[in-house]
Amino acid sequence: MKFNVITIFPDQLLQTLEFGVIGRAIENKIIELNFIDPREFSDNDYGSIDDKAYGGGPGMVMQVEPILSSIEKVKKESKNNIQTVFLSPQGEQYTQKHAELFKKQSEIIIVSGRYEGFDERVIGLTKNSVEISIGDYVLSGGEIAASVIIDSITRLIPGVLGDEQSAVLDSFTSGLLDHPHYTRPEIVRDKEVPNVLLSGNHEAIKRWRLKQSIVTTFKKRPDLLKQRKLSKDEQKLLDEYLEELDE
Ligand code: ADE
Repeated sequence: MKFNVITIFPDQLLQTLEFGVIGRAIENKIIELNFIDPREFSDNDYGSIDDKAYGGGPGMVMQVEPILSSIEKVKKESKNNIQTVFLSPQGEQYTQKHAELFKKQSEIIIVSGRYEGFDERVIGLTKNSVEISIGDYVLSGGEIAASVIIDSITRLIPGVLGDEQSAVLDSFTSGLLDHPHYTRPEIVRDKEVPNVLLSGNHEAIKRWRLKQSIVTTFKKRPDLLKQRKLSKDEQKLLDEYLEELDE
């Protein structure tokens, strides 16, 4: 998969993506990063691509033409009707569902904003585009958000994770948070590993993990359970937990 990133700070992305499984995916050419510097399309000798906001106020706004020309450059080199992702705090909240959808594309364009953001018109002028936020906070630029998006998509591509199952079992893939994990030693500072995990009973372990996932989600992220209905069996596990609380 090819990620075309429009950014004035490509090194910030490279430095966050060169490690671990994502770094290996780049080395093994499972993913390709293509950076486009919008300053290439600046209309002045200084290479600036921002200007003061109409209506006044602090901060600078990224101009339409350098971004649009960068997008057009990518589109000219590609046959596809590529999806463009504009990163901004005003976008729709990024979730695992977006990662799964984007993964299906052979390439995407990601626009990392700087300054106060983009001139609004650039979004309307870009076909097949979506504005995405990675959370309700303001970053100094979209580069970190772009790294988050590239990482979360890349780990879903077959061959990127050592164990194919890992992404399938990840938190959120099933709409639930992950169950807790334990490793050696069996007892640490008087804290023991739950017995069932030492039982060798794979069916019991699977059930315990599912129950933990449901209970953890219920306790920590009840909003996720509103979006995902529990099956009868899953509801039974949650009821079991609620009854245990009463005892
Ligand atoms: N740029 C600045 N803040 C952002 C956010 N929360 N998500 C995506 N891009 C951003």
